Amino acid sequence: MYYIAPSILSADFSRLAEAVALAEKGQADMVHIDVMDGHFVPNITFGHQLVAALREKTRLPLNVHLMVDNPAKMIPLFLEAGADWLSFHLEASRHAHKDLATIKEAGRKAGLALNPATPAELLSEVLEDLDFVVIMTVNPGWGGQKFIPATGKKIQRLSRLIADRGLPTLIAVDGGVKLDNLASLFELGMNIAICGSSVYGAGDPVETIKKMKAVAAEFNQKYGRKK
Ligand code: DX5
Ligand code: ZN
Repeated sequence: MYYIAPSILSADFSRLAEAVALAEKGQADMVHIDVMDGHFVPNITFGHQLVAALREKTRLPLNVHLMVDNPAKMIPLFLEAGADWLSFHLEASRHAHKDLATIKEAGRKAGLALNPATPAELLSEVLEDLDFVVIMTVNPGWGGQKFIPATGKKIQRLSRLIADRGLPTLIAVDGGVKLDNLASLFELGMNIAICGSSVYGAGDPVETIKKMKAVAAEFNQKYGRKK
């Protein structure tokens, strides 16, 4: 399946509930929330209390991306806050298998995120435990960066690895995703398009999401049954 997930990192932080409402109006499939702790990445963004507050404001699933050190400590807070999809970085976790189990035991979708320099093959032993993978196609920490071309091959390799094992694992792509490259990324194996600046930096976020959804709908029609 093919999904559009607007990332509120590029929205006006003083009007986040409105940003989520725009995602809903554009019929986005979920909202992506970037949690940065000032350690794993230099910036600080949102905490679990903000996730809990937004949970009250929308019926859209919340896809929370933890860019934090020691995710084991943070995961229970975000589960409690109502994250529906929860990913953390392989580079930050000492016991990824255990941390994934914590998420799955709560009945939520569990994901691992990979920095651009981290090979997809490092997921080999936990692939069966993953509902989704977040392939970072920019260095984490900032919105509005340029897509790193070398990461395209990684999406393709991961997609093959998943297909070879007949798994339902979804691939989310995070960084530099926009209307222009959406179709080519879906072709490479992306299932979830995470779009920050291309949505909230656009003149009309609702129209932009609708256009993106139309591209996703074409792919759902063409290949939707496979995953
Ligand atoms: C970057 C974040 C992304 C960010 C992407 O660290 O993980 O989710 O919102 O922003 P764009 O789409 O502007 O590259
Ligand atoms: Zn993100």
